[in-house]
Amino acid sequence: MCGIVGYVGGRPCKGILFEGLRKLEYRGYDSAGIGVVADGRVEISRSVGNLDNLELILSQVDDAGTTGIAHTRWATHGRPSIENAHPHTDCSGRFAIVLNGIVENYQELRAALQGEGHVFSSETDAEVVAHLIERAYRGSLQDAVVEAYRQMEGHFSYCAVTADEPEVIIGIRKETPLVVGVSEGENFIASAIPAFLAETRSVLFPDDGEVVVVSRDSVRVCTLEGDPVDRPAKTVDWDDEAAEKAGYETFMLKEIYEQPAALADTLAERIAPDGRVVLEGLGLTQEDFRGLERVIIVACGTSYHAGLIGRHALERWARLPVEVEVASEFRYRDPVIGPRCLCIGISQSGETADTLAAMRLARRRGAKVLALTNIVGSQATREADGVLFTRAGLEVGVAATKTFLTQVLAVLLFALHMGEKRGYLEAERVLGLTGKLRRIPTRLREYLESDAVRGVEQAAVRCASQRFFMVLGRNIGLPVALEGALKLKEISYVPTEAYAAGEMKHGPIALLEEGSPVLVVATDASIYDKLVSNVQEVRARGARVIAVASEGNEGIGEMADDIFLVPCTDEMLSPLFGVVPLQLFAYYVAKARGEKVDQPRNLAKTVTVE
Ligand code: G6P
Repeated sequence: MCGIVGYVGGRPCKGILFEGLRKLEYRGYDSAGIGVVADGRVEISRSVGNLDNLELILSQVDDAGTTGIAHTRWATHGRPSIENAHPHTDCSGRFAIVLNGIVENYQELRAALQGEGHVFSSETDAEVVAHLIERAYRGSLQDAVVEAYRQMEGHFSYCAVTADEPEVIIGIRKETPLVVGVSEGENFIASAIPAFLAETRSVLFPDDGEVVVVSRDSVRVCTLEGDPVDRPAKTVDWDDEAAEKAGYETFMLKEIYEQPAALADTLAERIAPDGRVVLEGLGLTQEDFRGLERVIIVACGTSYHAGLIGRHALERWARLPVEVEVASEFRYRDPVIGPRCLCIGISQSGETADTLAAMRLARRRGAKVLALTNIVGSQATREADGVLFTRAGLEVGVAATKTFLTQVLAVLLFALHMGEKRGYLEAERVLGLTGKLRRIPTRLREYLESDAVRGVEQAAVRCASQRFFMVLGRNIGLPVALEGALKLKEISYVPTEAYAAGEMKHGPIALLEEGSPVLVVATDASIYDKLVSNVQEVRARGARVIAVASEGNEGIGEMADDIFLVPCTDEMLSPLFGVVPLQLFAYYVAKARGEKVDQPRNLAKTVTVE
């Protein structure tokens, strides 16, 4: 989820690229860099931290070049450092590239290139592209970019320049955005429209596997074979803010729609060709895997709900006893912890004060500590023995969506990994489950593009004036219900109670009146029949039932007023689908009530105080 921008034209490009980066800063900001073609070479300026640092460095750089590429980085492979910042160059310094996305087979490619004598200067996956281009170059940057592309696996878009062809930028994309800004005597290329919106509103959208040749007076789009593709530019009438939201009305909605990509990024390289889960940097030895006796998960808010899902998976697959505790409570207990205990701190920001304090307490008492976070370099990563990163990119909406889904995916991957390492999961079972996981991003994308979303919106509008919601779930559906209820509370301000469906008779059922809306998460096949009985119970009290069910279980619709059908998968993986209609439901209720979804009252994105 990095930002890239390129310019070729008649004006000095340094300042134009820098302004483009400023507009993309919302996509990531741990380091940044600019590469300008001038005087027969590509001059690279890079810095760590926010763009002010880069600005300082640029003030000392000549302003001569009129072709250049720039990048603002959201670290995935390799910590934030000058060496890991883009642009990356080949051995000779003649070629420079910026990349957004993930090159999944970079280790293989890197080893092969090193075997041929190429010298690498970073830990990133992106650097292989510069060396692949160097190896392939025979006088045409376009051909070299295509040849590199053909060898790369993963999802990415990248732009390349060379001192040998000083007035051209070549861009290419695979399942990752890339747009071209078309203007008079100058053209732009970027990962998102805000980068050049101040300069032009004429935008061309290349497709996957198309090469874009951007020069001062023309933009050509070609197939990999070099055949021209006719892609007329369109005029966008977005303002700056709308452009940052890529046309979505809010960041939250945009982030809900980014979930398939965020899941694909978080999965990338973590499933080996034989279906095994590969997780690096956990800081656990084989002895730890076998010897662990207990897991304690500490987290706050939405991250706590991801932890609850982790408990189900770790118990089922790795046969480990798991406690999940709200960090602000755990830190004041006197917990019994020993060396055979693993504490997992889940925090998208890696900066939540209570979660950090809980992790420290566990560590002081002898536990190994693993941080599960979205932010490379965050405090949690500095204090833990190991780290498992989600790769959701920057989340702007205060109500977490894509970071939650990637946390769920990460804990599921971790539990599969543990199950295998501890000898409780057979290879065949892992293969079956990872095969299902691999298909989830595409299936979720299809769901989000289907009419199902409209159905959720309509139901939300019908319920928008309700004074109270109840959300019921059971087994692995309970954390999903809790998360759905939290979304409703956070952004729509409607009092909402989430409850274990089987426990409802012991109190909350008294709240129900004629027409009270009750959402029921019924995606977990193992307790589906029990949930059907719970639905009957609430219906008998006159409640209005909204069921979230998996395809194939349409039958529950006969007892419900509304049914939100999601794709069917293994019950342990079902939260990855089940929570999405609840996010959308909360979103559309809040919208219908006229609330400001991205900045809910009284809430902060990251709570760094106790
Ligand atoms: C705040 C946010 C929540 C988030 C929680 C934990 O309350 O509003 O969305 O779930 O903090 O944040 P963390 O960064 O630790 O996951």
